[in-house]
Amino acid sequence: MISHKGKSIKLILIVLLYVFVSGDAEVRCIESEREALLSFKNGLIDEYDVLSSWQSKECCKWHGVECSSTTGHVTTLQLSGLDHDGVLKGDVRSSLLELHHLNRLDLSLNDFGGIPIPEFIGSMKQLQHLSLSGSKFAGSIPPQLGNLTNLHSLDLSYNSLSSTSLSILAPVFESLEILDLSYNQLNGCIPDPSAFSSLKELHLLKNNFTGSIPSSIGQLSELQVLDLSYNSLEGLVSESHFSKLDKLKTLDLSFNALILDTAPDWSPPFQLESISLGGCDVGPYFPKWIQTQRNLYSLDLRRANITDEAPRWLWSTLSLLTNLDLSDNRISGAIPNLSSTSIRYMVLSNNQFSGPIPLFSTVASDIQLSGNMLSGSILSICKTSNEHLRTLVLSNNQLSGEVPNCWENTPNLQSLDLLTTVFRVKFLALWAT
Ligand SMILES: *[C@@H]1O[C@H](CO)[C@@H](O)[C@H](O)[C@H]1NC(C)=O
Ligand SMILES: *[C@@H]1O[C@H](CO)[C@@H](O)[C@H](O)[C@H]1NC(C)=O
Ligand SMILES: *[C@@H]1O[C@H](CO)[C@@H](O)[C@H](O)[C@H]1NC(C)=O
Ligand SMILES: *[C@@H]1O[C@H](CO)[C@@H](O)[C@H](O)[C@H]1NC(C)=O
Repeated sequence: MISHKGKSIKLILIVLLYVFVSGDAEVRCIESEREALLSFKNGLIDEYDVLSSWQSKECCKWHGVECSSTTGHVTTLQLSGLDHDGVLKGDVRSSLLELHHLNRLDLSLNDFGGIPIPEFIGSMKQLQHLSLSGSKFAGSIPPQLGNLTNLHSLDLSYNSLSSTSLSILAPVFESLEILDLSYNQLNGCIPDPSAFSSLKELHLLKNNFTGSIPSSIGQLSELQVLDLSYNSLEGLVSESHFSKLDKLKTLDLSFNALILDTAPDWSPPFQLESISLGGCDVGPYFPKWIQTQRNLYSLDLRRANITDEAPRWLWSTLSLLTNLDLSDNRISGAIPNLSSTSIRYMVLSNNQFSGPIPLFSTVASDIQLSGNMLSGSILSICKTSNEHLRTLVLSNNQLSGEVPNCWENTPNLQSLDLLTTVFRVKFLALWAT
């Protein structure tokens, strides 16, 4: 036992000695790459001294720089504003082209003051990950980016980019797994999805894409996230748009002019975690296929033109559901006892729900039921202890009774909109005491 211990200590000493004498003490940084980085730095305005470490010989240890442990080549330049206090400004210099082994370039969340995306980036063919998100780039997407045929992820979100056609990026699509162009001013049609065979995430929200969604999008069998919300898309969305999307987890088509056209007995290939179809024409019936989605935690069918009774399964089979928004439809029926559900956030405002105020789950934090036909005594909200409840909106219903005095059950309540004005006056008096 003892000799075994002795042996390990000796071994550790040898290893330490080796590391001290040879390993890390050696400068790995390649001089030409160091110079390229310094020239890149000279183009930047670094008001916050983010790059103060960019001086020593060993450039592989500079802030945001990573090198290959075998060759010493710079492989990553990670200068996201997320990783440092303060933003970089100025120019993006083409000296980056000297970094022939760079495969990840992240300049997100800086402030490049409305310059266009530099065309030379399209010559960095080895790039696998490019993020220029939220860095105040403007103008059109340079067609040169279509040369980046090794890209796995491209994130140009939160800029002021405009473009008439994304087909310039077509050569890139084949290798892409993540494409995020959200929050720009892109217009034109959605590019032909059949080129994106590896795509896992497509984020095009908050642009001005027009036309219909090509049904070939249903062939993207690797797709997990599809977010096309807040564009100007129109037309029918049918079962064929989803035919091979069996890995889809997140679907957001909200606030376009889309009409969901699926058969009543449709059994979709996916198990979604989040469905957002607000502002789509989903009705008149409550979509039955949602019942098959056993992993659902968020369901948003706001203003979806539904005129129907709320199905019973909605409250009983979707046991993971935490967020539910059905506001601004014509949905009727009673809301059952919700105390054994997981619902935290529930907005059922402006529908035709009737019956008494339900019992909420003990985890409920934001409940909005205004503009329905709920009746009975409001005293029922005293029946459970709602210690997480922060917002409760019950206005414009047909409730009656005294304003209850059970607020010790709701210690976190921050916003309360109870009843008609008559009751509110009474309530305020009570609150003041
Ligand atoms: C890059 O793209 C541009 C414009 O699409 C093209 O003219 C040029 O030949 C391409 N360069 C390389 C190196 O592929
Ligand atoms: C979106 O595009 C349409 C058609 O090209 C145009 O009429 C509309 O003004 C655009 N909307 C915005 C917000 O840019
Ligand atoms: C709502 O649905 C009805 C059919 O139930 C349809 O006639 C109407 O056009 C739809 N309205 C909108 C805004 O989609
Ligand atoms: C509501 O449901 C809970 C849990 O399932 C149960 O314990 C409780 O008695 C029910 N309350 C009413 C009023 O039905």
